[in-house]
Amino acid sequence: MSAAPGREPEQLYGSSGSSRSSGPYVTLSSVVAAAISLLILTGCGAREERQAMLAYQQEPYGTTGDGAPVQLYTLSNANGVRVAITNYGGIVTRLLVPDRDGNLGDVVLGYDSLSDYLTASPYFGAIVGRHGNRIAKGRFTLDGVEYRLATNDGANHLHGGLKGFDKVVWDAEPYRAEDEVGLRLSYVSEDGEEGYPGRLAVTVTYALTNSDELRIEYRAETDKPTAVNLTHHSYFNLAGHASGDILGHELMINADQFTPVDEGLIPTGELRDVTGTPLDFRSATAIGARIDEDDEQLRFGGGYDHNWVLNDYDGSLRLVARGHEPTSGRVMEVSTMEPGMQFYSGNFLDGSNVGKGGAPYQHRAGFCLETQHFPDSPNHPEFPSTVLRPGEVYESTTIYRFFVR
Ligand code: GLA
Repeated sequence: MSAAPGREPEQLYGSSGSSRSSGPYVTLSSVVAAAISLLILTGCGAREERQAMLAYQQEPYGTTGDGAPVQLYTLSNANGVRVAITNYGGIVTRLLVPDRDGNLGDVVLGYDSLSDYLTASPYFGAIVGRHGNRIAKGRFTLDGVEYRLATNDGANHLHGGLKGFDKVVWDAEPYRAEDEVGLRLSYVSEDGEEGYPGRLAVTVTYALTNSDELRIEYRAETDKPTAVNLTHHSYFNLAGHASGDILGHELMINADQFTPVDEGLIPTGELRDVTGTPLDFRSATAIGARIDEDDEQLRFGGGYDHNWVLNDYDGSLRLVARGHEPTSGRVMEVSTMEPGMQFYSGNFLDGSNVGKGGAPYQHRAGFCLETQHFPDSPNHPEFPSTVLRPGEVYESTTIYRFFVR
């Protein structure tokens, strides 16, 4: 792997007593050239080796209530990072990343078995759609027609309704490509499903790269005008899923504004400056530093449960957030093409969801960074639009990248 094939090292570097008239003819430039080709060959070998270490495994993961068989796919990269994803809800069930000592830890909340996901899951690790977050009173009007959606959050529609994309079985196809291994999930949401107009063909691709990124690519097409807003709902705890609350994590969100909400967590329509509020995360701040301040927005959310208006939105991918857990050294950076991000601090967790290895997930045991268009967009023409029309393609990418510090 490290020596140039077909040559002995002494030939490369010359033997003692060599001269211009006898023995191998060695000049400085030939030594430099040989060294460069050695480096290139070494680099190529290492790269091929890293490529060969990208792998996936597939195993049965049980059956849904309707008897549909479900699989669990485990993707692994050259650094030992592993992500397990089931095609039920596109749920990320495990995500193992190293801490600063190289020890792998599972940094997402979740369950050990499918039956727990089927029974009661607060969207742990799931793909959320057709329209993520809340739609007020489950209603919106598009091209003069009012649509009524399933309501599942008091009077409101939340995360796609009673049976959103987090609760359906997706077709799944694992793949290996250059520097990444992935899982392509596809699902067709029928016209009228959960009240939405249009037959929507959706593809969500999860890719684990050799740069320790979990990249999620969303794509959808419709046959009638509809509203689409897809996101991913992992609850992260960078110290490990069973290590207590996330209040010590330091978080940076690159956003000058947020969308304030009413008591029902529906945006009022205002874009409010974060300056001087506990929602200013432009400089990295511990999640717990201000979470219990006497602030109306924090009261409404029971903590953080708001949409940030991400800076520099132009439809291209840019870095929008960074979470850092000081004891493990793990860092997670989020890049997205989306205009908004819901930062939810796990306020509804109360210990009743008993997760992997029997861990009861207590209040604020995980946090979500849900990249998205703003909540209730279909009822706010002033927000970036979530309307998708026939002939258009909905495409969006979000990357969660892991490293240590
Ligand atoms: C989102 C919402 C929260 C809550 C969680 C799931 O983050 O904004 O209010 O519904 O999902 O429990």
